[in-house]
Amino acid sequence: MPDRFDTEILPADAHGIARAVGWIAAGQPVAMPTETVYGLAADARSGEAVARIYAAKGRPAFNPLIVHVPDGRTAEALARFDPPARRLAARFWPGPLTLVLPLAPQAAIAGLATAGLPTIALRVPAHPVMRAVLEQAGCPLAAPSANASGTISPSRAEHVARTLGGRIPLILDGGATAHGLESTIVAVEADRLRLLRPGPIDAAQLAETAGVPLAGPAAARIEAPGQLESHYAPSKPLRLNATHSRPGEWMIGFGPIPGDATLSAAGDLVEAAARLFDLLHEADAAEAPGIAVAPIPAEGLGTAINDRLRRAAAPRAAASGLPRSG
Ligand code: TXA
Ligand code: MG
Repeated sequence: MPDRFDTEILPADAHGIARAVGWIAAGQPVAMPTETVYGLAADARSGEAVARIYAAKGRPAFNPLIVHVPDGRTAEALARFDPPARRLAARFWPGPLTLVLPLAPQAAIAGLATAGLPTIALRVPAHPVMRAVLEQAGCPLAAPSANASGTISPSRAEHVARTLGGRIPLILDGGATAHGLESTIVAVEADRLRLLRPGPIDAAQLAETAGVPLAGPAAARIEAPGQLESHYAPSKPLRLNATHSRPGEWMIGFGPIPGDATLSAAGDLVEAAARLFDLLHEADAAEAPGIAVAPIPAEGLGTAINDRLRRAAAPRAAASGLPRSG
């Protein structure tokens, strides 16, 4: 259940930006303009802050989010940059380009922000409002488009208010966005680029700048956002709706049902979402040959948690082909 708010809409001036920074420090998501679309931004280091993005959007599934940083130097602390990635960053940042890169091993990024993947999507935005928030908040910001799941991406503060009003504390109004279209997303691999989402920056320009080919034909390789084939899944069998562990199972508890670890002893779905990927990784790394998970209520964020658990429990071939909505 998302929290209820009397959503404030403030001009994106110094006062509004200071309010936004205060809410972000308090672990809440805030809507703000970027040069592409309005983003719903929260502290990417905090699983609970990221969980509140999903709760506000009412997303039925966890997709990895784009992590926004103020500059290339900050980005380099979070991911591995090979020369092609460096060339792309030097030419197109700040700007509407998102790079998917190997996550740095010790990067302080919540597992929920990357959906447990070993890669991270990074962008240095050009919009002065989001840049000011990034600098003053002093943390990376996870930010999907600031609209409720299944609705159109917002290019004005009014669009944000239409679907997220009452669900978030604050919308910074910085007028209409320049592009009105989400950033281009490209995965930078050892010897090629893969276009994951077309956007304002043209694919041909990317290959030319990076000095490595775009895996082609480009059109055939495009994965619709949210339809990732490589979502994190544990390597061993996972049993759902378990009220007790059986021999050989590492148990993930919830609410009154205990386990080797619990998603949330208090039965809090925000806390459970925040811990989900960390506990799946921990269960996967444990010696037990199986994993069991307590039942999670199918409401609010519980819908997305159950979606992820069902995928993790499904046989691999079936899990990889399922469509996802975002
Ligand atoms: O223009 C934009 O990019 C806007 C503004 C707010 O910056 N943000 C945005 O974020 O569109 P979001 O979170 O809705 O985009 C997420 C998409 C996912 O659906 C997925 O396709 C891709 O980014 N993505 C994120 N992390 C990924 C990863 N590790 N591997 C592959 N794709 C990833
Ligand atoms: Mg979106």
